[in-house]
Amino acid sequence: MTKSKGRPVRIAISGAAGQISYSLLFRLIGGDLLGPDQPVALQLLETSAALPQLEGVAMELQDCASPLLSSLSCHDDPEQAFLDADVVFLVGARPRSAGMERGDLLASNAEIFSAQGRALNRVASRDVRVLVVGNPVNTNTLIALRNAPDLSPQNFSGMTRLDHNRAMSLIARQLGCRTDEISGVMIWGNHSTTQFPDLHHAHAQGLPALDQLPLRWYEETLIPTVRQRGAEIIRVRGKSSAASGANAALAQMRDWIHGIPENGWTSMAVLSAGQYGISPGLVYSFPVRVNDGHWQIVEGLDVHPDAEAGIRASETELLGERDLIRHLLPD
Ligand code: NAD
Ligand code: LMR
Repeated sequence: MTKSKGRPVRIAISGAAGQISYSLLFRLIGGDLLGPDQPVALQLLETSAALPQLEGVAMELQDCASPLLSSLSCHDDPEQAFLDADVVFLVGARPRSAGMERGDLLASNAEIFSAQGRALNRVASRDVRVLVVGNPVNTNTLIALRNAPDLSPQNFSGMTRLDHNRAMSLIARQLGCRTDEISGVMIWGNHSTTQFPDLHHAHAQGLPALDQLPLRWYEETLIPTVRQRGAEIIRVRGKSSAASGANAALAQMRDWIHGIPENGWTSMAVLSAGQYGISPGLVYSFPVRVNDGHWQIVEGLDVHPDAEAGIRASETELLGERDLIRHLLPD
């Protein structure tokens, strides 16, 4: 995507009347993704039934009088919403409620991503960046990219940045440092309870994090807390996370567009080509760098034996999810 002062960047958002979008949209017109000088054209997608609510959101966006909002359109047809889009947030999908696992959403949400993948294939910019947020994220990303054969897998990533941020925040609070003093955290696998938050390469304030953190706290507090955080928020708040999800979506997209400072890495769910022995063709969260606007899986890291079992368990879960939606994956 080329940023230019004159041309607005076209940003499409599905599920634009939902709760994540209600946080995300106002930050997009505040310049939090592309900076204070870059105009944006918002192309909002909803179900036909939710168009009246979307109209209300559109009115509020207009009432912000943002100089960056160059145009705004509302749609219930993905081909109209995704037309020439440079940046796409696929948020529109049902959230889980208490007692459900994210994978339970496959039945209701998977088909959304095959239809939207096909629409992206037909009309989006060839340089589009599509960030999938709707759950179950990894498998929905796989469905979308497989239904967009004329785009590259490079055009797609699924959001595991919220898990990454959750781990960063826990470490910072435990050590009494700032999150920007921490590096090298990674989330392996599925955005689910099988994910593996790996601190074996993490540093805080220049020193290995696990030299400063009790191993027991890492294994018995950090790992289960990150894995269960989404469910815990639903239990306490009564609704699934929204502002923190929108914040993570912005952060992941910002890193993807602008790069990651100091050649560090972040976590993104992207298509495996067999790195770290993960089955090629699965969308799996890896440590990822960004080179010239393209994500690249960080290769050659030593995998600690304690991480290996977690990495495999998440792969097994994703293989199971893929079996359930094979009918949505064209050859
Ligand atoms: P929400 O119910 O508030 O909003 C979802 C919106 O999507 C609704 O307005 C709905 O009408 C719309 N929608 C449904 N089907 C659509 C379709 N085919 N096309 C366009 N719009 C459609 O839900 P939310 O809280 O905003 O969450 C959205 C999704 O994001 C959920 O699946 C949730 O589980 C997921 N999520 C993921 C993460 C993550 O870390 N990856 C974090 C938080 C939430
Ligand atoms: C989260 O991690 O908060 C989201 O994926 C919502 C959920 O269902 O947990």
